[in-house]
Amino acid sequence: MLKLGVNIDHVATVREARYRGRGRGEPDPVAAALASEAAGAHGITAHLREDRRHIQDRDVWKLREVIKTRLNLEMANSAEIIEIALKLRPDIVCLVPERRQEVTTEGGLDVAGNLAALTETRRRMNDAGVEVSLFIAPDPEQIEAAARTGAQFIELHTGSFAESFAAQAGVEEELARLVSGAEQAHRLGLRVNAGHGLNYDNLPWIHRVPHLVELNIGHSIVSRAVMVGMEAAVRDMLRLMAPYRG
Ligand code: PXP
Repeated sequence: MLKLGVNIDHVATVREARYRGRGRGEPDPVAAALASEAAGAHGITAHLREDRRHIQDRDVWKLREVIKTRLNLEMANSAEIIEIALKLRPDIVCLVPERRQEVTTEGGLDVAGNLAALTETRRRMNDAGVEVSLFIAPDPEQIEAAARTGAQFIELHTGSFAESFAAQAGVEEELARLVSGAEQAHRLGLRVNAGHGLNYDNLPWIHRVPHLVELNIGHSIVSRAVMVGMEAAVRDMLRLMAPYRG
């Protein structure tokens, strides 16, 4: 069964727009996480950014305490956040690139260019009992490097696919990259997640990508939740994912 990890960052984005620096406020990303679990989500994803633009430290500690499914902490490979992760002990970390100006995570990690540093973080996390995923483009060189770090998972970046779907140009090519990336990763013994830009319209196409374990989806679910509520938005996404056969 294809699993859904719900990324609740954008619930915190709305809260911070009004309550930045005040240690409280609505909407509450932890409440959104609990609603997602109640609707059947298999995991909760939160990105503790170095600039703390949405998720705050108190959110990840509260999530660790109350959620019953898996906590996936998205994070940059930076010393400060590594120390927090080693204390927090999420079930899994997903290492992502982070640039201050981006609206969200724009590109995949350059694993090949940062092999030693990423391997070291992978080792420290695994020693602490935390699994590791690397967020990468469906690029053969990066997938090969991801396997060399010893990571358990990759998360294939579906952003280019989502953009091509929206533009109705080059969709088949982008899907072919995801398919061959998933096949290569599977051959190398990596488990394969995917995410970024997935929504209720493009999701059915993702069924053509083999070997997927989990999708991490945030923006489209939180956006729909504004209109129909978090539980309904998560259930709608799970319904679209159910026919996946790997
Ligand atoms: N996966 C990763 C690694 C991400 O950085 C993001 C965006 O925060 C997502 C998945 C979710 O993307 P979206 O919000 O577009 O669904």
